[in-house]
Amino acid sequence: MSVVQTDVLVIGAGAAGLMCAATAGYRGKSVTIVDMGKKPGRKILISGGGRCNFTNENARPENYLCQNPHFVKSALSRYSAQDFIELVDRHGLAYHHKTLGQLFCDDSAQDIVDILMIECDWAGVNIALRSEVLSVTPLSEDESGQGYQVVTSGDTYQCQSLVIASGGLTMPKLGATPIGYKIAEQFGLNVLPTMAALVPFTLHDHDKQRFDGLSGISLPTVVTADDGTQFRENILFTHRGLSGPAILQISSFWRAGQAVTIDLLPDSPIAELVKEWRQNSPQKSLKNLLTTVLPKRLVEAMVNNKELTDKVISQLSNEEVTYLQQYLHHWQIKPNGTEGYRTAEVTLGGVDTDELSSKTFEAKNAKGLFFIGEVIDVTGWLGGYNFQFAWSSGVACGQAV
Ligand code: FDA
Repeated sequence: MSVVQTDVLVIGAGAAGLMCAATAGYRGKSVTIVDMGKKPGRKILISGGGRCNFTNENARPENYLCQNPHFVKSALSRYSAQDFIELVDRHGLAYHHKTLGQLFCDDSAQDIVDILMIECDWAGVNIALRSEVLSVTPLSEDESGQGYQVVTSGDTYQCQSLVIASGGLTMPKLGATPIGYKIAEQFGLNVLPTMAALVPFTLHDHDKQRFDGLSGISLPTVVTADDGTQFRENILFTHRGLSGPAILQISSFWRAGQAVTIDLLPDSPIAELVKEWRQNSPQKSLKNLLTTVLPKRLVEAMVNNKELTDKVISQLSNEEVTYLQQYLHHWQIKPNGTEGYRTAEVTLGGVDTDELSSKTFEAKNAKGLFFIGEVIDVTGWLGGYNFQFAWSSGVACGQAV
């Protein structure tokens, strides 16, 4: 089998790897990307329900979880959401704004992959698909930066700079592997424990019974984690548990055994509603009145489970109103767990950012070895923030390799 020489070898033809490769290629470097998949950008293709939420106009360091909250600042400021928007504008991409600064393709996520492939083509990048990385070895025993040899199920490569853009552990069906963490450990880098994030919650059996039949109900809420982090978005009841954007967001802040608190009526203080109902509809039942502000099936389940009374509104005591306030504005659920890497959007944890330069993403103690994208301990909120970090870290690294 031949040994291919290349200045830069990138492991992973995902968002970060493609962006890095194009950037390095434009600088005149010879660049090869290896990926075990049949197609490049497989996660891009399934993202955002097939329309790829490719960035967030408001992306700021505060939107990222990382043990060092300052780490993302440099890359995000040097290649911002606006820079990526300029790139897609140059390619004539049709896209639209959704809520909260999120930008989606009008047609298909394939458009984003096509743009990245065109950029890689113009930059002269070689892409070797169906090439699983089997081993990585330094070309010299000391840390003099003499390069690396990478053996894949296809060719063997020798490179000066090796970029690990192999992603996290989510969606093993799409080729997620722990290779990036293994390479980090092989070169003595600390890897922080990983966990599925942006992921639906599963429920204990007794809660599953309580919410039986509610699958498909979605409602606006404010969800709060134990550490006080809050998200104002919808929750969705599913037949496995709880999902929806508010739940996915809070899952990144939730730890096993903790409860989450959900305000089911964030825009309508129940005490005020009851006051109004006492004046205008004193003979109507609480259940009927609640169905004007909450989904009917949810109210019925709460009444059937005897969590809410079905009294006529004029008969509600002040203690019962206080209970209602607590119950509806501070509804507590203790998840059983999450659906895990099978359905999660991202992986929390990963290569410790203390081991990397925040400007170049090069390992401080392994010259020529770089880590970008999801494999490192940087996790964005839901809403285009993860792709933005892939673009920003890819460009920062591509300028340095
Ligand atoms: P990515 O995982 O994209 O790429 C890694 C590549 O490495 C893969 O192509 C893989 O095949 C390859 N690889 C792994 N091991 C290998 C080995 N041993 N040998 C060779 N190749 C190997 N984010 C966002 O901002 N907006 C959104 O809309 C969504 N939507 C979304 C939906 C779903 C269902 C998921 C699962 C995720 C999202 N995300 C998202 C998150 C986003 O997809 C994710 O953060 C980025 O794809 C990470 O990009 P990377 O390039 O770091 O890894």
